[in-house]
Amino acid sequence: MNSFQDELAEIARLTDDALDRLIPAGDGPEAQVLSAMRYSALAGGKRIRPLLVIASADLFNVSRTSSERVAAAVEMVHAYSLVHDDLPAMDNDDLRRGRPTCHMEFDEATAILAGDGLLTLAFEVLAGDETHSLGEIRAELALELARAIGAHGMVGGQMLDLMAADHELDVHEITRLQRMKTGALISYSCQAGAILGKAAENQRHMLAAYAHDLGLAFQIIDDLLDVEGDAEEMGKRTGKDGQAGKATFVSLLGPERAREQANILADQAIKHLEIFAEKGDLLGDLAEFVVRRRK
Ligand code: IPE
Ligand code: IPE
Ligand code: MG
Ligand code: MG
Ligand code: MG
Repeated sequence: MNSFQDELAEIARLTDDALDRLIPAGDGPEAQVLSAMRYSALAGGKRIRPLLVIASADLFNVSRTSSERVAAAVEMVHAYSLVHDDLPAMDNDDLRRGRPTCHMEFDEATAILAGDGLLTLAFEVLAGDETHSLGEIRAELALELARAIGAHGMVGGQMLDLMAADHELDVHEITRLQRMKTGALISYSCQAGAILGKAAENQRHMLAAYAHDLGLAFQIIDDLLDVEGDAEEMGKRTGKDGQAGKATFVSLLGPERAREQANILADQAIKHLEIFAEKGDLLGDLAEFVVRRRK
């Protein structure tokens, strides 16, 4: 049996191959935007969301041809969200995944367009014939992604996050913000596996409960690493949330209780996988990794 690190590395490799194929470098006047899209999507990253898509789809024996395309689409959306998150008008960051952010490497206008291009391409990939033979499955994949990342999901969460600067939020408000900003795409990643696998209602439900807890644990650790992490190891700047006066779980609960909370959520996430027996092991290992990670 492969170690979790080996499995994650293998999925990262598959994701890179798929992204490389799906975002071909251009040679016309649009080459600049394609090059910025490739720069941001192919810059490494932990590839946690592709693992969620593929491991969830594997529960239902979905063909890897399908799940790899969906994994690549999800990672395109994630890359777009990071490119825009780093812009001067948002978090104003100059370092991402150990390299200059997209707007530093290119320019702001190109970074905005690269984000737009990645987001749009993700839907093109989902809707494409090769993703699934059934149109209704492809439509459900696209519909649920739109729901997850729009104004009531990730984009709305980013808006709340900006508004959280210099505002006191209570635990409920922060939980809602994190659910939208980070949790929604993490939940979609698992849901996509269930859609591809035509999972039964109770299986969808348990997978959604797993993703819900995992998403919150994930963002609590992201906030904790912003305070305690090593910038070199993480490939991004630290101390940013404090500087911006952003309300996070860590600013509210303090680092110890925040970590405790993340651990409780990860354990809870793993319990929801029981109905999948040993087939759920990879997702369980991921939950442990998410709270143990140092980047
Ligand atoms: C960072 O996500 C941004 C958040 C949603 C908090 P990741 O920690 O998954 O970033 P990469 O993909 O590994 O760079
Ligand atoms: C980013 O959250 C969330 C999205 C891009 C949707 P953060 O701003 O906390 O992510 P980092 O810390 O810059 O990676
Ligand atoms: Mg941000
Ligand atoms: Mg940021
Ligand atoms: Mg952060």
